[in-house]
Amino acid sequence: MKPLNLDLIWTGIAKLHQSLKLLTTPFEFAVLSFEEKDVDVYVNALTKSIKSSPSIVVSQQVMENLNGLHTRFEPDSLTEVHLRKTSYITDEHVGFVKQYIPYALLPLYANKEQRTITISHFAQSLDGKIATNEGNSKWIGNKENLIHAHRMRALCDAILIGSNTLIHDNPSLTVRNVPGNDPVKVVIGQSSELNFTKLLENNARVIYITNDRNNCRTGRVETIGAPEIHGMLDCDKILKKLYKRGIHSLYIEGGSKTASNFLINNSIDIVQLHIAPLIMGSGIVNFSLPEIKAINESISFKKFNFTPVGRHIMFTGEVKRHQIPWKQKHSGTCPNPVQY
Ligand SMILES: NC(=O)c1ccc[n+]([C@@H]2O[C@H](COP(=O)([O-])OP(=O)(O)OC[C@H]3O[C@@H](n4cnc5c(N)ncnc54)[C@H](OP(=O)(O)O)[C@@H]3O)[C@@H](O)[C@H]2O)c1
Repeated sequence: MKPLNLDLIWTGIAKLHQSLKLLTTPFEFAVLSFEEKDVDVYVNALTKSIKSSPSIVVSQQVMENLNGLHTRFEPDSLTEVHLRKTSYITDEHVGFVKQYIPYALLPLYANKEQRTITISHFAQSLDGKIATNEGNSKWIGNKENLIHAHRMRALCDAILIGSNTLIHDNPSLTVRNVPGNDPVKVVIGQSSELNFTKLLENNARVIYITNDRNNCRTGRVETIGAPEIHGMLDCDKILKKLYKRGIHSLYIEGGSKTASNFLINNSIDIVQLHIAPLIMGSGIVNFSLPEIKAINESISFKKFNFTPVGRHIMFTGEVKRHQIPWKQKHSGTCPNPVQY
C-alpha cells in the first residue's frame, strides 16, 4: 500500500472542520478513512468497517478496535497535536497534519469557551513592518505563504479585516489556491462609506461590525453593532456575537490597528507571523501597543514554534491571554487605546 496522498489528507482535514461544527455531543474521536480517491470522516462513531483502509485518527485514547493501518494524533492545545502512532504516512505528511489539523479542531475549543477563537496573521519584514507608510504591502510574503493563508481561510469560519485594509487592498478574501469553502468575510470599522462590492462577489456572506450609530446599513451586507470602549469597538463582545452567529474560528488578516485592538482587548488566541528576509526600516508595524516599562511585561506565549514556509519562516504562538498586562492592571480596558 502506498503512503497517503497529500491532497486527500487536505480534503480530510477540511471535511473534519465542517463535521466538528455540527457536533452536538462531547468529542471522543475523529477518523479520516482514506479510499483510493476519496476520504470519509467519522466523528465519535464509525458507521462502516474501515478495517482495510488506512486512516488518520484524532483521539486522546488508544483506538483498540481499529486496524493497524492508522496514524494517531492526540490533541493537546489550540496549536498542537502529538503523534502517537504512525502507519502509511511520510514524515513530511505528519508535519502537514500537525500543522493544520489543530485548526480543524478549533470549534471544540470555541464551544468550551462559548466564544469565537481567533488567529492573527501577518506577513512582515524582519523589523516587524507589514506595509509601507503609503499602505503598500504586496508582496511581503512568498507564494507558499499565500497557499498557507488560503488553507487557513478554508479552515476558519470567517476572515476579519479592518476598514483601512479594505480601502488599500480591496481584497476578495476567497479560497483560491487550495480546494476549500470560502469563509464568511467580516470587516470592522466606523465609517458608513465603505465599498463592499468585491467582497460580495459570488453571493458571499459579508458582515460589517460597526458602532451602534452606523448600524443601519441596508442591502446584502449584514451589520452587527458593537459597544465601544475608549472609542474602540469592544472585541470581546464582538467575539461573543460572532459565536452566536455560528462563527467558531476567525482568521484576522490585519491590518495593524485591527489586530492591535484585538490583542489589547485580550481577544487574540493565536499569532502567526510570516517573516520575510527584508528590512524595511520604515512603514506600518505589526502590533502597536501601549508602552511597557520592563521586558517581563511583554506578551508571551504558552506554546510556540517556527516553521519553514518555502525559504521564509512562520512564527506560530498561543498567546498567554490572561497575562496581558493592561487587562490585569486596568480591569479590562486599555489606558492608551490605539488612536485612529
Ligand atoms: N502584511 C500583511 O500581512 C498585511 C495584512 C493586512 C493589511 N496590511 C496592510 O495594513 C495596512 C492597513 O493597516 P491599518 O492599521 O492602517 O488599518 P486596518 O487595521 O486595516 O484598519 C483600521 C481601521 O479598522 C477599524 N477598526 C479596527 N479595529 C477596530 C475596533 N476595535 N473598533 C473600531 N474600529 C476598528 C477602524 O476603522 P474606521 O476608521 O472606519 O473607524 C480603523 O481605522 C494596509 O496598508 C494593508 O495593506 C498588511
